[in-house]
Amino acid sequence: MLILGVDTSCDDTSAAVVEDGARIISNVVSSQDEIHEKYGGIVPELASRRHIEMIWPVVDEALKKSDIGLKDISAIAVCHGPGLIGSLLVGVCFAKSLAYVNKIPLIAVNHLEGHIFSSFLEETAPDFPFIALVVSGGHTSIYRVDNYGVYTELGRTLDDAAGEAFDKVAKLLGLGYPGGPYIEALSEKGDPGIIPFPRPYMHKGLDFSFSGLKTAVLTHIRKEPDSKKEDIAASFQSAVIDVLTDKTVKAAKAGNVNKIVIAGGVAANRSLRKAMIRMAEEEKMQVCLLPEYLCTDNAAMIASAGFFRFKQGKTAGFDLNPRAYLPLGSHGD
Ligand code: KG4
Ligand code: ZN
Repeated sequence: MLILGVDTSCDDTSAAVVEDGARIISNVVSSQDEIHEKYGGIVPELASRRHIEMIWPVVDEALKKSDIGLKDISAIAVCHGPGLIGSLLVGVCFAKSLAYVNKIPLIAVNHLEGHIFSSFLEETAPDFPFIALVVSGGHTSIYRVDNYGVYTELGRTLDDAAGEAFDKVAKLLGLGYPGGPYIEALSEKGDPGIIPFPRPYMHKGLDFSFSGLKTAVLTHIRKEPDSKKEDIAASFQSAVIDVLTDKTVKAAKAGNVNKIVIAGGVAANRSLRKAMIRMAEEEKMQVCLLPEYLCTDNAAMIASAGFFRFKQGKTAGFDLNPRAYLPLGSHGD
C-alpha cells in the first residue's frame, strides 16, 4: 500500500511516498535554512509564504521520483500539528484539496508520532514496548510506546526544547542557523569538561528544563569574554547530552523496557548518539539510531505513521484543521 506523506509543520516543505509504512520510495525535503539563517531563528510568516511556493513542486517531485501517479496512492497522510500554525495550514489545505479532487482518503498525523515512526523506516525497527526520546527544535519528551497509537508521556521539557537551546546558544556564539550542527562541529575542537555548566533537573524526575542552561551560557560569556568558543560549545553540549541520556535510560529502567529510540533533529548529534550507545551498553539495552535525514523533519515519517493509522481505519474528514498545540495521542479526535 502506497501512502503520500506531507509535512509543512515548521520550516521544511516535505513530501514522500512510502510503501507499507516501511519502505521509502521517495522523500523530498526543501529546506528554508537560507531564508531564516540571517534572523538566527525561524520567521513564521516567511516560513508559510515559502511553503506556499514550494508545496506543489515538492509533492510533484516526490511523485515523479517514485514513478507513481496519484491514482496509485491509497491515502494522503498530512501532518496537522503540533507546529507553526501558518506553516501547518499550507500542508493541511493542500492535502485536503488533493484528496478531495482525486477522491483519495485523508489521514491526519501528529508530527511527534511521525518522529517516533521514523524508526519503522529502518530495518532495525524496534518492537514494542520501547522508550522514545523525541528531541527536536520544538519538542523534548520521553514516551513509552506500547503499540501503534499507544503512547504514555513520561517526561517533557518545562520550557525550551533541547534543539531550541542549541539554536539559542549558537546565536550567542555568533554561529549560523540551525545551531545544532554548528555547535556540534565547534565542540569537536573544545574541552567538554572545562566549564561546569548546570545539568538542570538532573535528579528531579523525567522532566527537562533548558532555559536556565542557556542563561548560564550567556552569563559565562559576559563574565569571561576571553573564554574559548570551542570550550563553551563543548561544555554546553555535554551538559545537554548528560541530561538527555540519563533521563532516557532512567525511564527505560523504571519501565522495565530495554529498547530505546532517539528521534528528532538533535538525535543527529554524534556525541549524543555515542553517549546513548555507551549508556545503553552498560545497562544492556538496545538503541535504535536513525540516519540524519530521518532525524530531522521529513514526510516519510508522516507517511509511515499515516499507514498505521489508515490500517486502523482512522481517516480524517475534510473539516480537518491544523493545530499549533497537539499533544501526542490526542489527534484532535
Ligand atoms: O526535528 P527537526 O528537524 O525540527 C523540529 O521538529 O523542530 O529539528 C531541528 C532541530 C534544530 O533545533 C537543530 O538545531 C537541531 O534539531 N539539530 C541538532 C543537530 N542537527 C539538528 N542539534 C544538535 N546536533 C545536531 N547535529
Ligand atoms: Zn520535527
